[in-house]
Order: sequence, then C-alpha cells, then structure tokens
Amino acid sequence: MKGRIFSGVQPTHTLHLGNYLGAVRNWVRMQKEYECIFCVVDMHAITVFQNPEELTKNTREVTAAFMASGIDVSHSIIFAQSQNRVHAQLAWILNCVARVGWLNRMTQFKEKAGKDRENASVGLYTYPVLMAADILGYQATHVPVGEDQKQHLELARDIAQKFNTDFGSDLLVPPNPVIGGPAARVMSLRDGTKKMSKSDASDYSRINMTDDADTIALKLRKAKTDPEALPGPDVLDERGRVKAEEEAKRPEAYNLLAIYAALSNKELAEVINETAGKEFSGFKRDLTDLAVSVLGPIGAEMQRLLANPGEVDAVLKAGAEKARAISEPILKKIENAVGFLSA
Ligand code: TYM
Repeated sequence: MKGRIFSGVQPTHTLHLGNYLGAVRNWVRMQKEYECIFCVVDMHAITVFQNPEELTKNTREVTAAFMASGIDVSHSIIFAQSQNRVHAQLAWILNCVARVGWLNRMTQFKEKAGKDRENASVGLYTYPVLMAADILGYQATHVPVGEDQKQHLELARDIAQKFNTDFGSDLLVPPNPVIGGPAARVMSLRDGTKKMSKSDASDYSRINMTDDADTIALKLRKAKTDPEALPGPDVLDERGRVKAEEEAKRPEAYNLLAIYAALSNKELAEVINETAGKEFSGFKRDLTDLAVSVLGPIGAEMQRLLANPGEVDAVLKAGAEKARAISEPILKKIENAVGFLSA
C-alpha cells in the first residue's frame, strides 16, 4: 500500500458531476493502491441548518453514490462522520491549536457566510478545523479532493505542524493533497466563471448523479456557450495546456471540453484536437451520450441501493466500527501528549 487516504463529501444535496469527477471517481481509481477511508461528513453539513429528515436521506444517498460509483466496501471504509465520536473530540483539541488569524483567511468561510457574517454559525467558522481532525485522526497520508479544498488542506498541514512543535510529537501527519486532472474544478453550466455547486439556486447549473438521460440532454442543450466553433490546437501552449488568456475568453467552452475529456478519460489537448472547428450543437449531443453512458449505470445502481436502506445502513455501521478501530488509539496518544488523564 502506498499510504492511507481519507476524503469526504457533505450530505447537503445529491452529488453532482463536479463531486464525481473532482473527487469520487479518483477515489475509485486509487482504492487498489491505498488503504481508503471515505466519510459522509454529516457534522460538516449541519454548519448550515439542515432539515433533519433531509439530512438522514442525503446521508444514505451519498453513501449509495459512493458504492454505485465503484467504492468497494470489502476493501475501503465508508461511514458517517457522526458515527465516530473521535472527530468531535479531536476537533476540540485542534480548535485550541489553530489560530484565529488562520481561520480568518479561509476564503470558503467568507463566501459561505456572505455579507451577514455575524449571523453565521460558529461551526461554519471552525469548519476547517473539524476537517483537519477528520484527516489527522487517521494519520492519513493522502487526501484526494477538488481544487476548492486546497486551502483547507494547507490549514490541516499547518495545524499538524504546530501541534507537533508545541507538544514535541510526531503524531500528526501533515497530509498530501491529491488534486488534478481536467476536472479538478468543474464549472457551472450557466456561468463558466463559477464552480459547479450544490448550493447554486439553478438546477440547470449542474448535472446531478441522479439525473435521467432526458434531464442531462436538456441541461447540456441549455448550457451556456458562444457563437463560435470549437477551438483548435492553436489555443494550446507547448505543454498541451489551454493558454490562460484563451480560457478567459471562452470559459464555458473550455468547461464543456474539460468535462468531455474527464468523462472519456482523455487529455484535454486530445479532445481539442479531435473536436477542432466543430459546431457546439453536435458536440453537445456527443457530450450528452457520453455523460449518460457514464452516469446512467451509476444512477440505476443508486436507485437499487436506496430501495434497500437496510443494506446502506449496514455498510455505514460496519464502516464506523472499522473507523473507530483505527482512530481511537490515535486519539488516545494525542490526548496523552496533551496531558489528559486516561478515562
Ligand atoms: P464538498 O462536499 O463540497 O465536495 C466534495 C468533493 O467534491 C469536490 N468538488 C468539486 N470538484 C471539482 N469541481 C467542482 N465543481 C467541485 N465541487 C466540489 C470537492 O473538492 C470535494 O473533494 N470540506 C469538504 C468535505 C470534507 C473533506 C474532509 C474532504 C470534510 N472533511 C476531509 C477531504 C478530507 C467539502 O465540503 O466537500
């Protein structure tokens, strides 16, 4: 094994193509080479109010999405964060290590809290510390995520280093972010300058993993583009990447091309070479067929699993037991280093 992976998704909404291409699909690929722990982070979800029934439903749905995407539960652990108390206990210790100045720099808090910062929950503010506890509580070495989580992972590294210095220990392992590929940042279908997000008011901005073929076709047909034909290889730099100034001119076009590349397991440059000069209408039809061929079977398997909630709950329960078995001894050592007496 090359190391231990920890990663998570919030059960705040059905997963979308950005979650799948930016995170879950990479987990499936890495699971043979790493020891893997995948978490449905329900404690992170409640930093913004969640209807309790919806939260339960979404926790099962995200678990089903992990399984239907190909996470093999005979090898990898899937569990819900609140099913392992270690996360909350370690988060408190790390809250006392992290500095207010560090959290004040977190851009995601600023975006999520918006103008009404005084009214945001305290949990939303310390959210990245709980995320650090998730990772550090398992001594995970690698964290595969989309690009939007990069700053949070840098904070987790800073917290680990400060703890180790303060307490003269090597218990907290600074994690390595694993971010990359053409879909590390999938953008909204309505505005190529905004990331595809669960919280966007328009459902036309994203493709959900549960969308059927007609819905995917409709959303891609309505996806924003421009009147020009698809770009050719002259937009690429010598390393085969789209030049920044070109991308800035046509963000929606390059987003659709990147989605196509990711879904077809090709490099973006290869796709640009193949589609150069084509019209968007035909390209969107090809992209629809491709998206349906990848997401269709996943959606069908999710429906099967959700019709059997007992199967999903059993996976979470078994996963939580394994998660506790790994993290409880680590927490004990951390508490010991801090000077807490054992219970
Ligand atoms: P969340 O639930 O917002 O997103 C889950 C994963 O999907 C990725 N992602 C995207 N990737 C590409 N393009 C997009 N438009 C896009 N939108 C989302 C995210 O980067 C993420 O990998 N804080 C985390 C959850 C978390 C976590 C952790 C992750 C909690 N504890 C520990 C790793 C390790 C979050 O809110 O992800």
